[in-house]
Amino acid sequence: MKRALGVCYYPEHWPEDLWARDAARMVEAGLDWVRIGEFAWHRIEPAPDQFTFDWLDRAIDVLSSAGLKIILGTPTCTPPRWMLDRFPDMLATDAEGRPRKFGARRHYCFSHAGYRAASGRIAEVLGDRYGRDPRIHAWQIDNEYGCHDTILSYSDAARQAFQTWLAQKYGTIDALNSAWGTVFWSMTYDRFDQIDLPNLTVTQPHPSHTLAFRRFSSDQVVAYHEVQVAALRARTEAPLIHNYMGRVLDFDHFEVGASIDIASWDSYPIGFLSDRLEASEDHKARYLQQGDPDMQAFHHDLYRAVGRAGRWWVMEQQPGPVNWAPYNPAPLPGMVRLWSWEAFAHGAEVVSYFRWRQAPFAQEQMHAGLRRPDDAPAPGLQEVRQVAREIARMPDIALAAAKVALVFDYPSDWAWATLPQGADFSYFRLMLDTYRALRKRGLSVDILPATTSDLSAYKLVLVPGMATLPAALKQALGQTTAIVGPRAGALTPELTIPTPMGPDLPGLDATAVQVESLPPGTHRAVDGGGAVHHWAESLEGTAEVTLPYADGTAFMMRAGTTAYIGGWPDAALWDRLIETEAARAGLETLVLPEGLRIRDTATHRFYFNYGSTTCAFQGLELPAAGVHWHPRDGGKKLRS
Ligand code: GAL
Repeated sequence: MKRALGVCYYPEHWPEDLWARDAARMVEAGLDWVRIGEFAWHRIEPAPDQFTFDWLDRAIDVLSSAGLKIILGTPTCTPPRWMLDRFPDMLATDAEGRPRKFGARRHYCFSHAGYRAASGRIAEVLGDRYGRDPRIHAWQIDNEYGCHDTILSYSDAARQAFQTWLAQKYGTIDALNSAWGTVFWSMTYDRFDQIDLPNLTVTQPHPSHTLAFRRFSSDQVVAYHEVQVAALRARTEAPLIHNYMGRVLDFDHFEVGASIDIASWDSYPIGFLSDRLEASEDHKARYLQQGDPDMQAFHHDLYRAVGRAGRWWVMEQQPGPVNWAPYNPAPLPGMVRLWSWEAFAHGAEVVSYFRWRQAPFAQEQMHAGLRRPDDAPAPGLQEVRQVAREIARMPDIALAAAKVALVFDYPSDWAWATLPQGADFSYFRLMLDTYRALRKRGLSVDILPATTSDLSAYKLVLVPGMATLPAALKQALGQTTAIVGPRAGALTPELTIPTPMGPDLPGLDATAVQVESLPPGTHRAVDGGGAVHHWAESLEGTAEVTLPYADGTAFMMRAGTTAYIGGWPDAALWDRLIETEAARAGLETLVLPEGLRIRDTATHRFYFNYGSTTCAFQGLELPAAGVHWHPRDGGKKLRS
């Protein structure tokens, strides 16, 4: 498949006489796709049941006539003000019991039945009008579920829906009491309608209650989403897409992804570095204008797994400074091109930039686009043109399954957020650390869901932090070299401690009998170099201790090809582990210079220099923010 570029465009923000010029310039810059409509509900329906489609018809006509393929968004993340007159109780409620009010976006509770139906209805209305329109090549449903912390709502609608969900799940109140262990602190319930949401309690709410609420909240997103999926499926053959946001884990993306055709995500590398990454000040300074070297790739690999049949896009790519992080530096020259090629190397079909022109008004007036508010080209545009020229010359990139896999599980994040045990225990951070360790050794990685039951295609599989290990996954571990842990198989799906205690791996007699969290700056040394931080377990059992702590107690135990690690490795220890386990699995590794990353496809090896200085490696000289690729058969170099 030929890779392509796109852009997010808001015709409703601009005078109509600009549209045709914009469209022509998009095409001239090498863009093929344009996404529109996802925030335009009020323009489409200014008053209940009064539709004004004329402007949207004209916008579609102008963009399509210029040669652009249109992605039409359902505008459900921006319910108009009149919707609140109709449903005053549709707002989400925060954990403090306060409404999350109108005046921005995403002001709805997923559990509100009236709003859910209204969302389905606008999807039907749009589907009726444009579903068979050949100019609409794809649909985006809603926009970034979960952005701005909008999954958990403590509203009345959520409480009532939660009680129904619990009754369906447990059948009887006795079953719930016994599954949760409500005998503790006399929390026993007599009826489902007594069960409140787990907020505003005197101290920590019951963890099984909290986890049930997290699962329920994720299910509510799926149910809300599927109303729009059903509305559109009945009206269009075009692919359905959702655009997920980076490091949003509050709902199960695999489950939302199951009913649509393409996963996409919104990549804001510099915003993420500043806003949502635990890293040292040094690291943040080193990558200030580039973003973290692993954060984007991690999400690319994740969404390749979320997308049905591996189909995924970047729906929004940062083209310049954003407005929403604590600090918003500009990308180094070259980074917009690098991020785009990195996405293609990981299998993106389309990379689309947010946004065409910077808006001179409203919340995002400080957010760069490909053009400035005065319509002059912004620096990112030149790099986009370059990528478009390169795509035209580049033969197709064929993906290959990686030899290494990392298993990723949303409910584990909810489990550890509920029972962190250490103030800074983060599932995402543990996953990114693990992923980073693999990539620093030059390995390309596939991310797999916890439902995976066949690992035979992989030489090395890592399963850190999975709270409950599904039986099929446990069995599959025996097919390959696997590193499980830390903190894996430690709890039941109800968030109680199982007997036998975890990890309870087939054929591996190792049990985590005590766990400890370690405050920042403290470590437990491992024999021969490196240490664990954040988390340490005491392991018992008859399995062989293949790596002890410096005090001689077990850090890593193994039976056959499965190993369990009872601590969170620091970077040095991860590096040792990947080196030795990759060698055991027969995988070749590299030692990459700081900031350099490699990605292998079936056809090409790609090199990405996230560093701000030239990087020398194996005879290559990659400039700062530089990209290089060559065919994997060792054939002629394509470009540097
Ligand atoms: C995304 C969102 C866009 C825009 C962008 C700004 O989260 O989907 O609508 O707000 O961020 O960076």
